[in-house]
Amino acid sequence: MEDRTLILGACGQIGTELVTRLRKQLGKDKVVASDIRPPEDDKLGEGPFEIIDATNYFALEDVIAHYEIHTVYLMAAMLSATAEKFPMKAWHLNMNSLFNVLNLAKEKKIEKIFWPSSIAVFGPDTPDTAPQQGIIEPNTVYGISKLAGEHWCNYYSEKFGVDVRSIRYPGLISWKTAPGGGTTDYAIAIYKEALEKGSYQSYLSANSTLPMMYMDDAIDATLQLMNSDTAVRGKAYNIRSMSISPADMEQSIKEQIPDFKCTYKPDFRQKIADSWPSDVEDQDAQIEWNWKPKFDLQKTTQEMLNALRD
Ligand code: SER
Repeated sequence: MEDRTLILGACGQIGTELVTRLRKQLGKDKVVASDIRPPEDDKLGEGPFEIIDATNYFALEDVIAHYEIHTVYLMAAMLSATAEKFPMKAWHLNMNSLFNVLNLAKEKKIEKIFWPSSIAVFGPDTPDTAPQQGIIEPNTVYGISKLAGEHWCNYYSEKFGVDVRSIRYPGLISWKTAPGGGTTDYAIAIYKEALEKGSYQSYLSANSTLPMMYMDDAIDATLQLMNSDTAVRGKAYNIRSMSISPADMEQSIKEQIPDFKCTYKPDFRQKIADSWPSDVEDQDAQIEWNWKPKFDLQKTTQEMLNALRD
């Protein structure tokens, strides 16, 4: 088997950045990008690109055999806000794509999997700072699919020895590719509109505090976990860097754009945010594979505003 890597959902918010970083690290031809749609970003076409529906087992099997894929990052998913509108579609995409890669690993057609979980696995009864283990009872479609996915990863790891690794990502802040359909997307729109319009209307209330993270930290964590010899297989790790609200972001933007105005008009996404904890404990990730973030809110704001200005 060659040591090639396949990224499913390569056109998405995390996928795009993962492709760039892995191609830099491993070489362009070693990383196959794929999505259900063609890339808008020219960069993705600089190495191999395949159109694949991640829910189609045979299409996946073909591409994996053709490129002799060793590792798969499954970044295709329907996020929380959209999933509330299309529950069955979300369940189909989020679960069947996962079963496909888990079964391919069980059949020894691939060696290693990364599958993203989320803070969305937590629910209203989880303590406000969510421990790694505890009450995990999500009440959103997306959260239910992520929790089920965590259990399946654990099952395949224990029963069949599948090497699958996972992180419960916080809300991710980035500028290269916009997210779509998430509850935490406000944290990107707020920077864009601060620069474009000088104002932003938040669909979450001022004090909706959630675990958030700058994308560079999330990519670092992902690669660190994938390269770790000590991390537990089949375990979805909490990782943290900041716990912030729209009001905190407003304040941080005002330090750079003093006239920035933020107003608040919560919509249906408020309920989703209210069901999630405001922070998480990540000692396991720190101890088991040395996790440590680099970006706080101030540094994130600087990076976001500088990049978006360019
Ligand atoms: N950022 C995601 C969402 O808002 C949570 O994993 O849906």
